[in-house]
Amino acid sequence: MKQVTFRKIHENQDNRSISTGTPTSSQTGVATIIFSLKNEVGGLVKALKLFQEKHVNLIHIESRKSKRRNSDFEIFVDCDTDHEQLKELTQLLKTHTDVVEISPFDNSTLPDEDMAGVPWFPKKISDLDLCANRVLMYGSELDADHPGFKDNIYRKRRKYFADLAMSYKHGDPIERINFTTEEVRTWGVVYRELNKLYPSHACKEYLKNLPLLTEYCNYSEDNIPQLEDVSHFLRERSGFIIRPVAGYLSPRDFLAGLAFRVFHCTQYVRHSSEPLYTPEPDTCHELLGHVPLLAEPSFAQFSQEIGLASLGASDDAVQKLATCYFFTVEFGLCKQDSKLRAYGAGLLSSISELKHALSGKAHILPFDPMVTCNQECMITTFQQAYFVSQSFEEAKDKMRSLLRCICREFAKTIRRPFTVRYNPFTQSVDVLKDTNIVSGMVKDIRHELDIVEDALNRLSKQPRV
Ligand SMILES: [Fe+2]
Repeated sequence: MKQVTFRKIHENQDNRSISTGTPTSSQTGVATIIFSLKNEVGGLVKALKLFQEKHVNLIHIESRKSKRRNSDFEIFVDCDTDHEQLKELTQLLKTHTDVVEISPFDNSTLPDEDMAGVPWFPKKISDLDLCANRVLMYGSELDADHPGFKDNIYRKRRKYFADLAMSYKHGDPIERINFTTEEVRTWGVVYRELNKLYPSHACKEYLKNLPLLTEYCNYSEDNIPQLEDVSHFLRERSGFIIRPVAGYLSPRDFLAGLAFRVFHCTQYVRHSSEPLYTPEPDTCHELLGHVPLLAEPSFAQFSQEIGLASLGASDDAVQKLATCYFFTVEFGLCKQDSKLRAYGAGLLSSISELKHALSGKAHILPFDPMVTCNQECMITTFQQAYFVSQSFEEAKDKMRSLLRCICREFAKTIRRPFTVRYNPFTQSVDVLKDTNIVSGMVKDIRHELDIVEDALNRLSKQPRV
């Protein structure tokens, strides 16, 4: 039997590890050279001899009618070479031919200098272990104005949840919780009151998915669903998974999770003294606000796009992305059948704010990412304005346009010198800063298109009913 060995991949924490750097003279690749012959006998033979002398391997050669000068022919050559050879060969060719074009080396890379100063970001899903515990607010400690601040039993319970989240590693099953009677009662109040509002306040996509969660994850008034069950459900519906978190993450760390289709979820329940208010996300907010829409594949895609755009972006760009995320995914409104409906999780998990946003008294503005990204986010009070899209789909399209705007408009100051693409097979991020990687991606896309073409061909041959 043949022994199979795997090459070890050296992994570093800094971003320079993803750069292969400026090509060195020993790196080889395919270069294309186009030249036209001077008007002399045996010109082509002389030119090709130069390739032989420099030990440059010809892969492909053809003559083409010149696009530049109608009467001329040009020689088009693909050759396997390294940078040093290509330099020398070009110098020699110039003395014997008119070199029209050189497309050197198809494995050009962004230089390391371009990666300097790019903030660290996770490259693979397990890297989230390195940033998921950087909790900004609460965690196991509570502020003085938190409803549970003076309740030692509640604070002890919060520490239990914080410890669970802090010790979680990617791939672990999420701990199943024996929720207390008091916690279930609190959840029950929230669940019951919100369910009265959903038919008239929630968007269609939400109303479609909520019954599925009752069926597959035991959503009910007297049961708090387990995150592990929800995570399995989401994985099957949209590829998202849940990761427990102790409290608020920074926008950068939270958005980074989305890039890998990981949603950071709190697992504790708000304080029982105020079931209809919480100053922070709790499991009621996650399970009733976020999860139903995360089960929607197009919404999952949209969320992941925001996450991918945030990786390695400047603080300014991340802030703008996070603000738009806040006013869409958390507090977004849309119009469906000419009626205002909520799709934001912050609204769909808050009885009072959901009523307020659709009461006709709230300040409603059309969603415009370039305006919205400068709106102040209110954490413990109602929003000063809500942004409405004509449809759920339009909100997504506009967010995509924001991503493009951020790339263009702020390019000078917050330039991210590369593009990233999520690789679902390895659950990692490919940094598209090397043309070899891009070529591999093009091959993958071609393969996908072949499948699409095959499917269309088969369908077109089906007898029509
Ligand atoms: Fe949220």
